[in-house]
Amino acid sequence: MIIAANLKTNFTRKETKQYIQELESYVTNNAITQEVLVFPAMSSLDENNTSIIVGAQNAYPTQEGAFTGEIGETHLNEFAIKTILIGHSERRHILGETQESIVAKFNYYKKLGFKIVYCIGEPLPKREAGEQEMMEYISAQYEGIDTEYENLIIAYEPVWAIGTGLTPTLEDIASIHKKLKKKSKAPLLYGGSVKVTNAKEVLNVLNVDGILVGSAALYVEHFCTMISYAEELSQ
Ligand code: 13P
Repeated sequence: MIIAANLKTNFTRKETKQYIQELESYVTNNAITQEVLVFPAMSSLDENNTSIIVGAQNAYPTQEGAFTGEIGETHLNEFAIKTILIGHSERRHILGETQESIVAKFNYYKKLGFKIVYCIGEPLPKREAGEQEMMEYISAQYEGIDTEYENLIIAYEPVWAIGTGLTPTLEDIASIHKKLKKKSKAPLLYGGSVKVTNAKEVLNVLNVDGILVGSAALYVEHFCTMISYAEELSQ
């Protein structure tokens, strides 16, 4: 399974280093065989000599150049980073990224062979508008995306479940993951208010290949517990 932590705008470089070291000790000491990914804040990217896969939360589709406030391929290469999160709802809705700009980013980092964790998910009004409208909204987030890309991981994160403590029912997760698996065979993660208290049952849902965790992952011991659940379920 794939267990990923999106650290968002949290932790300094020093704190991130310590976090990754603690994760690494846990993974090594417990002979964990799951794929563990961590997405630190941009300024906390650093050398990484651990088995934990470190990815970028964002980068501009460029090697380098005049794109104030952005980083490019060169900056990721400095730390041998080959994994990137694309299409997160906070970038779509707070930072105003369009599907077009997301596709440009996707294609750029795909060409470089990056592992891409591509996020999709509907806001509350779309869910409340009913099944058909919700699926149309989600389908539009697949437009321009190579769903057969070999290094693709998809993360289904309902926007209304992110950081709210709300989650869809397990039946809802099962039902939507079943539909999404028809669109792409890529590993499919669930994200949105995954906590120690619900991680095991979410991981146990059919067609859930892992989780993408935000706030609860900031507690390294909580994140390690979730990794242990995945390990247990994979036995
Ligand atoms: P929370 O786990 O804080 O809801 O965030 C989920 C998320 O956005 C992961 O990318």
